[in-house]
Amino acid sequence: MKNRIIIILLFVFISSQLHADEGLWLPIFLNKYNIEDMQKKGFNLTAEDIYDVNKASMKDAVMIFGGGCTGELISNKGLLMTNHHCGFGQIQRHSSMEHDYLTDGFWAMNQEEELPNPGLTVTFLVYMEDVTTKILEGVTDKMTEKQRQTKIKANISKTIASVNKKHNEKYLVEVESFFQNNQYFVFVSQVFKDVRLVGAPPSAIGKFGGDTDNWMWPRHTGDFSLFRIYADANNEPAVYSPKNKPFKPKKFFPISLKGVQKGDFTLVFGYPGSTEEYIPSYAVELTTEVINPAKIQIRDAKLKVINKAMNDDRATRIKYASKQAGIANGWKKWQGENKGLKRLQAIKKKQELEKNFQLWAESDPNNEKYKNILPDYKKVYEISGDYELAYNYFLECCYFLETYKIATIVSKNYLEIDESSSNKQIDATRSTVIKATTNFYKNFDLEVDKNIFKNVIKLYYNGLDKKFHPKEYSQAKFSHGGDFDKYVDFIYENSIFLNQEKLNDFIDNYPAPKRSFFDKLFKKKEESKYSRKTIVNDPLYRLYTSYLEAYFYNILPVIEETEPMIDSLNRNYMAGLMEMQKDKIFYPDANFTLRVSYGIVDTYFPKDGVKYKYFTTLDGIIEKDNPEIYDYKVPTKLKELYNKTDYGQYADKDGSMHVCFIANNHTSGGNSGSPVINADGHLIGVNFDRCWEGTMSDIMFDPDQCRNITLDIRYALFIIDKLGGAGYLIDEMELVK
Ligand code: ARG
Ligand code: GLU
Repeated sequence: MKNRIIIILLFVFISSQLHADEGLWLPIFLNKYNIEDMQKKGFNLTAEDIYDVNKASMKDAVMIFGGGCTGELISNKGLLMTNHHCGFGQIQRHSSMEHDYLTDGFWAMNQEEELPNPGLTVTFLVYMEDVTTKILEGVTDKMTEKQRQTKIKANISKTIASVNKKHNEKYLVEVESFFQNNQYFVFVSQVFKDVRLVGAPPSAIGKFGGDTDNWMWPRHTGDFSLFRIYADANNEPAVYSPKNKPFKPKKFFPISLKGVQKGDFTLVFGYPGSTEEYIPSYAVELTTEVINPAKIQIRDAKLKVINKAMNDDRATRIKYASKQAGIANGWKKWQGENKGLKRLQAIKKKQELEKNFQLWAESDPNNEKYKNILPDYKKVYEISGDYELAYNYFLECCYFLETYKIATIVSKNYLEIDESSSNKQIDATRSTVIKATTNFYKNFDLEVDKNIFKNVIKLYYNGLDKKFHPKEYSQAKFSHGGDFDKYVDFIYENSIFLNQEKLNDFIDNYPAPKRSFFDKLFKKKEESKYSRKTIVNDPLYRLYTSYLEAYFYNILPVIEETEPMIDSLNRNYMAGLMEMQKDKIFYPDANFTLRVSYGIVDTYFPKDGVKYKYFTTLDGIIEKDNPEIYDYKVPTKLKELYNKTDYGQYADKDGSMHVCFIANNHTSGGNSGSPVINADGHLIGVNFDRCWEGTMSDIMFDPDQCRNITLDIRYALFIIDKLGGAGYLIDEMELVK
């Protein structure tokens, strides 16, 4: 028996060895776990050069850009670089038929020309600290998962309050959990609120290859944009003011013009959003077999409508560019993820690990507490699967729809007031709603939206069991003979939310103006055109409310039961895995906190008989040029520069203009815009994507196939300087030649 266990343990150990380049590492632990390995791979600096609380380090030059990307400082005047697709929303919002910055690009020629972006923030980490003991204080094994979570929530609030007090409320303080709630860290950050658009290439460069090339190698996208952070007179964060000054940072990245060779060390420093490396086979199966296919199908139906409309009409292209990019990005990634997991035989690999885990748990009385984890997982996923699917349908077919947002804003605000509300409250409601609806209608096309709605309502109906259907679907049966198209036509003709004129009339006239004392005494009550019923009986409002009812009564209750069970199993499984593989260094799943990934520049073999080089050049852009296809129209000016080989100091030593390169850094969504740094700590590129064959790395990393895609910084500078004519920005930077 003993022998058998030893053999098994050996196998477990080998099969679970961390692949050299896998890992999203916490910067505070680099010294302990990674620095030796990093230096072996070629890194010339120390862990403190990356993260140090007492002196300026790289972390002071890395930021969260907006709500889901990374950016980095590249000058001592607050200039930052991120991806074009990260600044896309801002560029789009400044665009119109007259100033089409999406198509033509935008270059501020001085600081006065930079464009403010209300609502856009950037966030720098000041420091992070392990607070596990504080957060788990008073938590016992005897507690139910719900009791445990309540206690932890209270401890988190207490910890946040005390850290806030320590810093006089100056910072943003957050507590995040790691290793499936086995560890907790506090994050103290500084948020800047005046961030202005400085430059963006035309989409034909910044989004070159569009969705056709998205998530793919070989890639030729100049995916960058430039912004500038402004601060008040004391260099502190402040809301937008023309008086603000460019922010003077502690640290910014010098930029290397040397380029990369195969085998060169690279480091990506940024904010990966979410990974699920330690989930059991049951969860992988649910994702790949059930949830991903459903989401892909729904988005397929949305994209068919949007893509056609964007192709047919330029104004629609501007309106829907940003929305389309978001929908298409997930749609394509899930397809790659499914392919990759299949190819990797991820489910089988997980099952093998689980078999070993079970044997280990049963082999020793000390491991008793881990014995039921896997059987319990199986039971709980058998129940939760249908509900998780329904939840995803609800998100994609209701909650994520644009008209859901507008219907919610208007109804929520207007159902809170009536004739008896104070004038002040009515005015406030009116102005909130007018602002929201004006913004909404700027980028809205009724026909496009209606056709999307028609597609997804049928998918929801056919894709889910009756118990998840909104009751209001019966209207389609009673009033429209079960014809969903007719039902949707009816809604779009009659809903007040879907007609800007009607909606404005409602906003202007509801609630009716107050009647004076004498009016009340002598005149009979005048009926207002509008009342609460206008909203409550609105067909779109009724349908959405009915979706919510289905969600709250038929979907959520089961998820609320199964989720804490899964949380608890995840926590114990993670702890068990760490106990079983004592010699393995684990990294925590991504959770949009600052991480370091490192690896080397490398080629790969995507399929039998094919090898991919590690870099692409401008020649490849010219090869792809096709004026017939929107994604591949190369701007004339870029072609001219190419024909003159006018690359200046940005050319590679091979004479060509390098555009992108790949390396085996472990990255994820959120790493977009992350600085890619060489062995000497200089910026060599901006991370923006992963290769198709490796998009499954959020669930399982494969060192053979997983590559992150980086924009070569020299191409970005070339575009700024030679194409944008904004060479004054290059003068601000520190170039290492
Ligand atoms: N795939 C990249 C990321 O996940 C880039 C997305 C933007 N590009 C696009 N064509 N939608 O964010
Ligand atoms: N494009 C992704 C982003 O927006 C990064 C690529 C990835 O997911 O690896 O964060």
